[in-house]
Amino acid sequence: MRVCVIGLGQIGLPVARYVHAKGFEVWGYDINPNTIETARKREKLRLTISWKDIPKVETYIVCVTTSQVNGNPDLSAVFEVCKKISEKASPSTLVSIESTIIPGTSRKILEDIFKGKVNLVHVPHRYWADEPVKHGVNQIRVIGATDAQSLKRGLEFYQEALGIPLHTVSSIEIAEMCKITENSHRYLQIAFAEELKMMSARIGLDFEELRNACNTKWNVDLPEAKEGIGRHCLPKDIKYLTSLTPSALLESAINVDKEYREWLSKKQCNDYGIKASARRLVGHSNPENIHRDPHTFTRSPREGLLDNCNGKKRHPNHRHARNTKSTIPQSRRIWNNAQREVGG
Ligand SMILES: NC(=O)c1ccc[n+]([C@@H]2O[C@H](COP(=O)([O-])OP(=O)(O)OC[C@H]3O[C@@H](n4cnc5c(N)ncnc54)[C@H](O)[C@@H]3O)[C@@H](O)[C@H]2O)c1
Repeated sequence: MRVCVIGLGQIGLPVARYVHAKGFEVWGYDINPNTIETARKREKLRLTISWKDIPKVETYIVCVTTSQVNGNPDLSAVFEVCKKISEKASPSTLVSIESTIIPGTSRKILEDIFKGKVNLVHVPHRYWADEPVKHGVNQIRVIGATDAQSLKRGLEFYQEALGIPLHTVSSIEIAEMCKITENSHRYLQIAFAEELKMMSARIGLDFEELRNACNTKWNVDLPEAKEGIGRHCLPKDIKYLTSLTPSALLESAINVDKEYREWLSKKQCNDYGIKASARRLVGHSNPENIHRDPHTFTRSPREGLLDNCNGKKRHPNHRHARNTKSTIPQSRRIWNNAQREVGG
């Protein structure tokens, strides 16, 4: 049986690899030629940037980018690829959206793009790149479908053929809501830890000692407060949730994280001086990722550190601008300056 994985980034490529290992003929499609070229060197998969090369397949798995513009969900890549799938799909086709979306997306796609004529499921990802075996493709996942037939097809594919343990929910909207709820929950936990760390410093207590002591209680699990809530999923997914309905709690958590980053960067500038802070910045960011995706730097929890150290004001449109291509040269410039600063 043939499967096509669309979007071969952090989750798409491991998905394609996993499905291939289960004996399927796997085709991979991505719009980024660099992604395809890099993946070709490592994978024995049929990979292409040309949609017309993809043959008719029984199952499509959508793993493309979802992002935000001005704090609102940008799901355009998901809609775009579903339009492409609709050119090749038949009523027996199974389409699974694994990208993170918001409630209502799958049903809109089914009606507006597929005109009700495919089997559609949503199986959000819980992939954790730092622990790909324990928290990889085949950890327990949630599945929701647009109707009973789609659910049957989804269970046959994921559970029986791929051996992925599933938790079935009664509607696709619940499945869509799951991922953004899970990530917002994590965001809240970390924001609370950040708040506690700032409070502890103000009253002269050691946060780590406090955290370790509290975590000895059976129902407490305070996470570390590191360098701000980074990577691209948590900050995006909490915004997806607040885009649905206002939440004072979630907005406060977003503000706490912002305050914490400023507090931390000022503290580090005081503790180590500008030069050492720049060294830490360079040391903690991953040059390979920056080469692959310059947005990685702008998403880094450490963004703003140098600006703060240099006492510069941020551009008022900075948050908006970081979702646009115009920030790429800026992020490269900051990166280069930081490297020069440490003689790298
Ligand atoms: N990375 C994670 O750990 C993780 C975990 C859970 C959920 N998710 C979700 O999975 C989705 C993908 O995340 P990712 O981390 O793999 O992103 P990524 O940026 O690493 O990869 C996305 C890929 O999609 C491709 N793409 C974008 N638009 C396309 C289009 N129109 N046609 C074909 N390909 C296209 C990009 O070129 C890129 O290679 C997102 O919705 C994300 O929120 C990611």
